[in-house]
Amino acid sequence: MLPKSAFFICLLAITLQINVNAKRLLYGKQDADHNYRRTIERFPALNQHSNNLESNSVNQKFDQLLDPVVTNGDPFPSPPPHTEVAKMARFIVHNSDWAALSYISAQRKSKGYPSGAIFSVSDGVITQSTGVPYLYVTKLELPIQDLRNDSRCSLTMTLAQSPYCQTQGLDPEEPPCAQLVLTGRMVQLENGTLDWNNAKEALFSRHPRMKDWPADHGFFFMRLDIEYINMTDYYGGPVDVDVKDYFNAKL
Ligand SMILES: *[C@@H]1O[C@H](CO)[C@@H](O)[C@H](O)[C@H]1NC(C)=O
Ligand SMILES: *[C@@H]1O[C@H](CO)[C@@H](O)[C@H](O)[C@H]1NC(C)=O
Ligand SMILES: *[C@@H]1O[C@H](CO)[C@@H](O)[C@H](O)[C@H]1NC(C)=O
Repeated sequence: MLPKSAFFICLLAITLQINVNAKRLLYGKQDADHNYRRTIERFPALNQHSNNLESNSVNQKFDQLLDPVVTNGDPFPSPPPHTEVAKMARFIVHNSDWAALSYISAQRKSKGYPSGAIFSVSDGVITQSTGVPYLYVTKLELPIQDLRNDSRCSLTMTLAQSPYCQTQGLDPEEPPCAQLVLTGRMVQLENGTLDWNNAKEALFSRHPRMKDWPADHGFFFMRLDIEYINMTDYYGGPVDVDVKDYFNAKL
């Protein structure tokens, strides 16, 4: 068995490596074709989505603003039109591999202040979005200890995580590089339930290393029960996305 400290050092090393790879993927302009192939391998859902979109009428204004980037003869996959807010929200959630978790700190020095941490997320296997963000966590993580005292939290996700914003020349803060905040309560899943199985499939298929995380760390699954969705996907300020519309939207 690995000692706990060794596991967290490993986790840090992996995180740094992923970060380096992500930066190479997103910012390496020299080898666009290579990047494009890497991107499609990494975001098959984006590719699939772009094929579905070909027959849809894409919002004209959006089109004028954002010229499609053509690499190797193929346009980059696009998110849905910004006016289809529920669909856009589902698109961002489904294509995010990680999210910023915001919660209320219960740690001594920052008690009562908002705090944040990055967590791996998945709302389903790559071919099937459920809209429900799942996490795989352990009580050894301080944010998880804090959430167990106060389960109110938000998950923030951005299209900047996909290659979309960079290829469109959008800064992550610019509104068409869409971002959303899912607010609600984080709940622990009971071992062996249907939900538990869904979470396991959703997370382990898209984060293959998770299955090797040490058993003695007591990992378990959590789910965000979404109460509000606030999204910025275009100029003019954020919009509220109806939670029912969000779950009814089809990608
Ligand atoms: C736990 O959360 C409650 C609010 O839900 C807060 O009043 C309390 O101070 C928190 N406890 C700790 C140890 O932070
Ligand atoms: C869930 O329970 C089964 C037995 O009921 C056990 O083998 C398994 O390790 C548990 N998984 C987790 C993640 O607790
Ligand atoms: C969400 O967007 C609305 C605009 O409809 C804004 O007024 C509101 O403050 C936002 N809500 C949250 C929770 O951020």
